[in-house]
Amino acid sequence: MDISFIFTMHEGLPRQGPGSNECTKKAFFMLQNLPDRPEILDIGCGAGMQTIELAGICPNCHITAVDIHQPYLDDLDRKASAAGVGERITTVRASMDDLPFADAAFDVLWAESSIFIVGFEEGLRLWKRLLRPGGYLCLSEAVWFTDRPSPEAVAFWNDCYPAIRSVEETGAKAGHAGYEVVATFPLPGSVWWDHYYTPLLERLPALKVAAAGDPDAEALVAFSEREIAMHREHGSEYGYEFFILRSR
Ligand SMILES: C[S@@+](CC[C@H](N)C(=O)[O-])C[C@H]1O[C@@H](n2cnc3c(N)ncnc32)[C@H](O)[C@@H]1O
Repeated sequence: MDISFIFTMHEGLPRQGPGSNECTKKAFFMLQNLPDRPEILDIGCGAGMQTIELAGICPNCHITAVDIHQPYLDDLDRKASAAGVGERITTVRASMDDLPFADAAFDVLWAESSIFIVGFEEGLRLWKRLLRPGGYLCLSEAVWFTDRPSPEAVAFWNDCYPAIRSVEETGAKAGHAGYEVVATFPLPGSVWWDHYYTPLLERLPALKVAAAGDPDAEALVAFSEREIAMHREHGSEYGYEFFILRSR
């Protein structure tokens, strides 16, 4: 299946996944003993709402922001310049499973709603070499918020991300991969809507027109509708959890 229309669907949105500046800030202020000039790598940055927030709350940081889709990086460059933080953000087009950086090059890795693309355990494994010893990996990951999810929610997640687990199981996987779980917190339900589903819903009629006649694009639009409907009905059963991990 050609999934390239998914990039078009998310171009120009404030975010390309669930999240908020409040959660970015809360996670960042949990980090301790950072060096004077921290090097941060934002993996799967999209249009970079969280990148620009990080640059604002960490005035001495330099951030390398990586994404596979150049138009998102161009959007991020424009927004960073407008926010006056452009000189401390370097955008790089690269794939998160083949990141072109030296070992131990970063103090902090940041990955909001992006590690699922390579898979949680694979991302933890692949990215560890990029962190200096004791460096942080901060990420958000989909988790079950209930021990008894409904059959509807289970069927949905089996179709799109069967690796979803509880917070405890996800934290245990991080432990096995050589990270200390410093802290975790759930993202509130509003992070799905404010900068993500609400603007995506507004453009769905136009996306349907653009997708018409292309079965793969039509399937991607239909999946988004299913995803949003699922969240309306069953969004209390699952969500995103922020994990603040430290490389051991
Ligand atoms: C769900 S979005 C999250 C974006 C951003 N972190 C946020 O929270 O709004 C996932 C991002 O990963 C990017 N992406 C997809 N495949 C990728 C890959 N192989 N390497 C790097 N980035 C990728 C997408 O272009 C998209 O911007």
